[in-house]
Amino acid sequence: MHWREGSGSGCDSRRLRPRMSPSTSRGRDPASAVAAKAPVLTIDGPSGSGKGTVSRLVAHALGWHYLDSGALYRAVGLAAAWEQIDLSDAEAVAACAARTAIRFDGEGEGEPRVWVNGKDATHQLRMETAGAAASAIAAHPQVRAALTDLQRSFRRFPGLVADGRDMGTVIFPDAPFKVFLTASAGERARRRHKQLKEKGVSVSFDGLLHEITARDERDASRAVAPLKPADDALFLDSTGRSIGEVVQQVLAVVPWSSAEDPPARPSGPR
Ligand code: DC
Repeated sequence: MHWREGSGSGCDSRRLRPRMSPSTSRGRDPASAVAAKAPVLTIDGPSGSGKGTVSRLVAHALGWHYLDSGALYRAVGLAAAWEQIDLSDAEAVAACAARTAIRFDGEGEGEPRVWVNGKDATHQLRMETAGAAASAIAAHPQVRAALTDLQRSFRRFPGLVADGRDMGTVIFPDAPFKVFLTASAGERARRRHKQLKEKGVSVSFDGLLHEITARDERDASRAVAPLKPADDALFLDSTGRSIGEVVQQVLAVVPWSSAEDPPARPSGPR
């Protein structure tokens, strides 16, 4: 986890229980709570758009925290599968979400390790089966509700880069900086294929393209928090662009990303 404060060790362990956000839990009035909120850069988009890599690099460049919301859905899908819960049973999966412990471990530009109920699930979570399970459970409003407060609790100074599908529309609608990152389905499948190959996972390209297209369709057509750009998001198509180029385009959205002195963090509670 890109976690510079609070955890000390760079680790962050959270159980999926509804909780007050740090700013509201201390009885502050709403106006000062909003004024004191850490900035958020939301990066939403379909699978394989490069969101994960771009978000981590941008968070690292800014020195901000990083939330990989897809990993939370993947972790809940995996935990539900371990418990042999029927993924179409919304209540049972939401209850499973509430008792699942997820820990992100590791800072910097690389992928954090993810621990689910004490097991290192990093590798398993990146498999297409985990992505498909995540997409299936993510369609349940109860499961999304179980994850909402947890995701918002990642908002901390000096700032947060939040990567997902509904970061700019539902979770952080007041985020000052929003990007919607996409790429053609063919390019996304090619990137995912290369990524999996590098990790020693062998999958067929055609199968992957089919899987990605089906998942996009499911994510974009679900009734609750569908994959779509926020009205105030910058739309970026990364087809044919290098990661470095896209990172620069995203960084340009944050006005002080190249400034020597970012705005000072307000004193008092976060
Ligand atoms: O970003 P990802 O591929 O790791 O996400 C896995 C699935 O989780 C994706 O198909 C849809 C779901 N998801 C979601 O519904 N909302 C989010 N904010 C993040 C992911």
